[in-house]
Amino acid sequence: MAAIELPEGVERILFTEEQIAARIREVAAEISERYRDEDSLKLIGVLKGSVFFLTALARELSIPVKIDFLAISTFSGGARAPGMVRIAKDLDDTIDGEDVLLVEDIVDTGFTTRYLLQTLAGRSPNSLGICTLLDRTTRRIVQVPVQYRCFEIPDRFVIGCGLDYKQLHRNLPYIAVMNPEH
Ligand code: IMP
Ligand code: MG
Repeated sequence: MAAIELPEGVERILFTEEQIAARIREVAAEISERYRDEDSLKLIGVLKGSVFFLTALARELSIPVKIDFLAISTFSGGARAPGMVRIAKDLDDTIDGEDVLLVEDIVDTGFTTRYLLQTLAGRSPNSLGICTLLDRTTRRIVQVPVQYRCFEIPDRFVIGCGLDYKQLHRNLPYIAVMNPEH
């Protein structure tokens, strides 16, 4: 097999395209089973990181699926207000009475996910769960209930499959460890 040429600063591949596809298929089967008696499942993607994962996941689900997106912006308020988050683009539709799965690229400190969960919970969904491609529990600061995760990762910066470094590398089909100081 020809060696894959890695972009500058990329140290090693953590998960290949094949490993990611296989794992997404497994998680999709679990989700399809959990929601099989509901009318439909609404996947809510967080722009832009979760787009690649959400579309791959949605295609593997065997239940009726709706999708919607929101975008957030994060800013640091210093030591007294770390991880401040606000909604920069809201959902197109209401989620009242719907079964909702928040789809994330990565849950890291948990601040983003907790904020989104609280916001969405206030809109009266029938149920609300979290599904993430990557989970880095070693860096968690606030606890969030993650029902579905594809991979736990070490405490290293990663790119690919939606995850960026300065908006680049989201389109890489694999997930790789990057040294941002490179
Ligand atoms: P949290 O609020 O700390 O959980 O941050 C989650 C967000 O930080 C993710 O949605 C990503 O946009 C970004 N992020 C965290 N870790 C990484 C990484 O290793 N690579 C790229 N983006 C990351
Ligand atoms: Mg990002």
